[in-house]
Amino acid sequence: MTKKLYIKTYGCQMNVYDSERMADILQPLGYELTSKPEEADLAILNTCHIREKAEQKMYSDLGRLKDHRKNQVADSSQKSPMIIAVGGCVAQAEGAEIKRQAPFVDMVFGPQTYHRLPEMIARATRAADTKKGKGRGIIETDFPLESKFDTLPQTNVSRTAAFLTVQEGCDKFCSYCVVPYTRGAEFSRPANEVLDEARHLVELGAKEITLLGQNVNAYHGAAPMGSGEWGLGRLAKELAEIDGLERIRYITSHPSDMTDELIEAHRDVPQLMPFLHLPIQAGSNRILTAMNRKHTRESYLEIMDRLRQVRPDIALASDFIVGFPGETDAEFKETLDIIERVRYAQAYSFKYSIRPGTPAGLMEDQIPESVKSERLQELQALINHHQQTFNEQTVGKTVRVLLERRGRLEGQLMGRSPYMQSVAVFAPERLLGQMVDVSIKEAHPNSIAGTILTTESTSAA
Ligand code: SAH
Ligand code: SF4
Ligand code: F3S
Repeated sequence: MTKKLYIKTYGCQMNVYDSERMADILQPLGYELTSKPEEADLAILNTCHIREKAEQKMYSDLGRLKDHRKNQVADSSQKSPMIIAVGGCVAQAEGAEIKRQAPFVDMVFGPQTYHRLPEMIARATRAADTKKGKGRGIIETDFPLESKFDTLPQTNVSRTAAFLTVQEGCDKFCSYCVVPYTRGAEFSRPANEVLDEARHLVELGAKEITLLGQNVNAYHGAAPMGSGEWGLGRLAKELAEIDGLERIRYITSHPSDMTDELIEAHRDVPQLMPFLHLPIQAGSNRILTAMNRKHTRESYLEIMDRLRQVRPDIALASDFIVGFPGETDAEFKETLDIIERVRYAQAYSFKYSIRPGTPAGLMEDQIPESVKSERLQELQALINHHQQTFNEQTVGKTVRVLLERRGRLEGQLMGRSPYMQSVAVFAPERLLGQMVDVSIKEAHPNSIAGTILTTESTSAA
């Protein structure tokens, strides 16, 4: 008998990967994905703890699930009311606190325990009914000795551009960040396991794979046949040998782990795309020290220079936090200065958000919200300007695009350039999943658009 599974995913790409793996685990139990929470037998919120807003959103979504379950209880034709589960990083960080704030929740589990879902569901099904508004009290938020990767089944989800987790967790402990507490200690999957999963994804139709990790360039997985360890540069080289895998990307990197081998891979491995997301966070060395970032503005700029030497067309991206405790106007200007120097093709920027349990949350000189907002606006205006300029530079050029999905307009398909730009073209549906050459005609702040020159299918015909 089929059952309906609703999963809502918040946060980063790794949560997207994890949600797909949850669906893979639950499929043999008869669970089929639905986009309608009201018809779910099992509803999972795969949550993010990185900033306060993400967490607030989760609690309001939980309230809505509770209402859906009430309606299911009232509708006597329904078999049994849905199981409500909270997974991911909020679950890991807050654990039992979620049960206190939302007692109707049945299951709470962390990013390292979701392989135990079948057993948790069996326990939840046996447990007391939910009609009295009480949850089933299942909490699994330890960091188990066994790795979830040892028990996860192979996926059968076909994606043109697929994600593959190669590294997880973080030992950096930046003073503002919850990730070391929610994802646990840093670990790398053995290279063989990664290569096998990559081959499988390509067999399913992937032409591009993005390697995921909270500190992906800290990757140091056991090499095949006990011959030491591979770094990310070596891993990319070996992945490039897989027939049919045309593009390799990785996210997110830390400046301290940018090895020579990885920088050189950007020169030597054509499948490694000319794009690097390397967050600096702030431009002032005093703030970087307070953030416990372990790199300086100078060491960061030097890495950017070396990357541009080996791969002159590389597009660069970063994350920024404005209004870290104690940040002065002059220090903020140093962040703007970094942006002027690097001229990013893309960037994400955030107002500093106090996170429970982090050292920066206890710092005294917190910055007023209004100052953070002003700084964010100024910084984003500068980033948008550079992004628009970067996009304009591609007008008149031909870029290779992997068409991944339908666009918002009728007959429009969307894909990515090697530089991670969103590209819009009008093209027939059959070209979805194909690599095409696009002549770029227009640049927008967040995308470029053009017309198709050649396609694999027409050139092969
Ligand atoms: N592991 C990655 C990214 C982690 S989270 C890295 O080290 O770069 C993604 C981004 O969220 C971070 O790069 C940072 O810019 C932002 N972030 C993390 N904690 C934050 C906080 N407390 N307030 C605001 N932004 C935060
Ligand atoms: Fe968070 Fe810093 Fe680790 Fe990135 S490197 S996940 S910002 S602690
Ligand atoms: Fe959020 Fe956890 Fe990713 S806190 S950003 S979902 S690692």
